[in-house]
Amino acid sequence: MARYNKRAAIPMLGIMSTSSPTHWLPTNTFAGKRAFVTGGGTGLGLEISRGLAALGAHVTIASRSKEHHLGFLTEASKEGWDAGAVVLDVREDPSVREAIDTFCEQHGGIDILINNAAGNFVCPAERLSSNAWRSVLGIVLDGTFSCSKYAGRHMIAGDGGVHLNVVATYAWTGMPGVVHSASAKAGVLAMTRTLAAEWARHGIRVNAIAPGPFQSEGAAGNLWPDETIEERMREAIPAKRFGTTEEMATHALYLCSDAAAYITGECMVIDGGLSLASGRMWEPGETLKRKRDKD
Ligand code: HXC
Ligand code: NAP
Repeated sequence: MARYNKRAAIPMLGIMSTSSPTHWLPTNTFAGKRAFVTGGGTGLGLEISRGLAALGAHVTIASRSKEHHLGFLTEASKEGWDAGAVVLDVREDPSVREAIDTFCEQHGGIDILINNAAGNFVCPAERLSSNAWRSVLGIVLDGTFSCSKYAGRHMIAGDGGVHLNVVATYAWTGMPGVVHSASAKAGVLAMTRTLAAEWARHGIRVNAIAPGPFQSEGAAGNLWPDETIEERMREAIPAKRFGTTEEMATHALYLCSDAAAYITGECMVIDGGLSLASGRMWEPGETLKRKRDKD
């Protein structure tokens, strides 16, 4: 079983926001809005779902495992949030269509789509099987397109809406070991910009967020499965700490809100500087001696 320690996100250095994402927006920000969040029962998706619901939206979470829905549904009933859940594999296009059509029948439409579901693991490209490649591309790229297309149809027929796609900075930096995920996320980024331009006239905004590493069961289990790798990753981040789901969700909520009404096709990076540091050749603060210097 994967080691997963949310406390490990607590920083040694630097400022960290542990505030609930709902702290930053008015309490009625999403009143009357209807949101569909893929992978909304765990990790970042769960934090976004909580935030949307606490700020007034109806939130339906969608993913493969019923067990992953329980935490959110229990919290929602305790907090009095308007929430639902649907078992869905986003790789199955007809099921995605049915789930979104049913959601829209039940709620009279859809205002917010969060494409957050993902699959990932580290595997050298030359050893990646075609089924493994298909599996990740199917979840991340195909799944995002199916959800976007069917939600988009309802938004076009209705009053527009907002899409938010969760990508990763290696969509443009690249990263050894995750050719499937990097290729898929790059596709999702291109999709974000294309649909933003194509659907702006329908009142639909399409944005992305690119988180740096944060602790989730899926990421910790698949990407930094032991403490040595986790520590190496933390060291590589200029902020010297992982992000928190709260920090990621804060910006996700902002991009979904009317505060971002004129922002579309944007990708917001939230990574403690990691993507800026990936090509660095010397350490910050290091004093370099010129060859001709003596001593
Ligand atoms: C090599 C692997 C593998 C691994 C699976 N496969 N794990 N290959 N190394 N570690 C191969 C299998 O052998 C199989 O190929 C194919 O992938 C499909 O595997 P299944 O187990 O049948 O797939 P499935 O049940 O559909 O599971 C999907 C999954 C799994 C993607 C493989 O990891 C998953 O469900 N993940 C969801 C959670 C998750 O990954 N969260 C991380 C998000 S973090 P063969 O050829 O044998 O049939 C993230 C960004 C982090 O995305 C960025 C940090 C900077
Ligand atoms: P996570 O908790 O593992 O979330 C992944 C979610 O996707 C799970 O809820 C899972 O639910 C769902 N999912 C997987 N396959 C699915 C499928 N075929 N159909 C429907 N749902 C599916 O990981 P996370 O770290 O929070 O990741 C959330 C997002 O952030 C992802 O897009 C990820 O790529 C991105 N991201 C994460 C990091 C990080 O460091 N953690 C960094 C950059 C980007 P089920 O198992 O119930 O299906």
